[in-house]
Amino acid sequence: MLNKDKIVLTGIKPTGMPHLGNYIGALKPLIERSRGFKTFMFIADLHALNTMHNPDEIREHTYQAAAKVLALGLDTENTMLFRQSDIPEIYQLNTLLMNVTPKGLMNRAHSYKAAMDKNIANNADVDAGVNMGLYTYPILMAADILLYNADVVPVGSDQKQHVEFARDIAGHFNHLYGDTFKMPTPIIGSESGLIPGLDGRKMSKSYDNTIPLLAPEGELKKKIMRIITDSKTPDEPKDPETSTIFQLYKHFATDSEIAEFADMFKRGGMGYGTAKTILFEKINAVLEKPREEYERLMENKSEIDAILAKGAERARPTAIETLERVKRAMLG
Ligand code: TRP
Repeated sequence: MLNKDKIVLTGIKPTGMPHLGNYIGALKPLIERSRGFKTFMFIADLHALNTMHNPDEIREHTYQAAAKVLALGLDTENTMLFRQSDIPEIYQLNTLLMNVTPKGLMNRAHSYKAAMDKNIANNADVDAGVNMGLYTYPILMAADILLYNADVVPVGSDQKQHVEFARDIAGHFNHLYGDTFKMPTPIIGSESGLIPGLDGRKMSKSYDNTIPLLAPEGELKKKIMRIITDSKTPDEPKDPETSTIFQLYKHFATDSEIAEFADMFKRGGMGYGTAKTILFEKINAVLEKPREEYERLMENKSEIDAILAKGAERARPTAIETLERVKRAMLG
């Protein structure tokens, strides 16, 4: 389905430091794909507004999000990296799409329903703490996707419904006004649910079991040494498939290294402490350069600004063209 002519689009929410699970499930495939396809990639600072009300925090998190993808090797030739809020056409398309989006669709959005359920459980008003930014979040996301004529939208499984809403909205629009929008297709990261954290459960901020992606070496080591294992002695054979250590190692090593490590588990003779050290050294070798580059960029924010400005400049003509098409269709 993916040929070179396809336009890829993705938004990255500026929400602080990612962990290894985010990297393996989402960032790594995204960055690898950036080498082959024309990609619109933006930092979704407008989407962050419905929860973050501190401009300094949004600004800092936006830099962090940009620095992290750049440090991890984003191809900025194929990829236009920009700030969502830097393209004024997005606000306009958002307003226009409001008028073809059924309210019922928003009522069914997972994120809004989760907020309602929490309120109901707490005996609060169903809409307590819900602003219109949160309620209409999927319309803004549809505007993102449709503004840049995206063919494919790689997202985590939690975002699949939003891409489906974008299709619904595009379909509804095309039905009313004639063929105006392309139908975007979601690509769901298959791996994202399966990366184990320190305690063996899915790596997730909400379980407090994450390993930070670009933390200093000492912190990375400390975390890895804290991975929970069973109580097998060094001599006993171990099952790599059920070991968090091995499951993480798999994503950083070559095929032959993986086979060899699996063998060391099965043969017995390797204690978990040794296995953790091997894992640490592997991950550290892969992340050492990105970590340095991340730190360098965060010290040189004007460099990030220049990259984001250039990305916006390249992305904007598409946005202008789409918005004109939509205005013509709706307003004559
Ligand atoms: N909602 C996405 C998230 O929370 C971020 C996002 C905003 C996005 N706009 C998008 C993703 C458009 C893909 C396409 O992760």
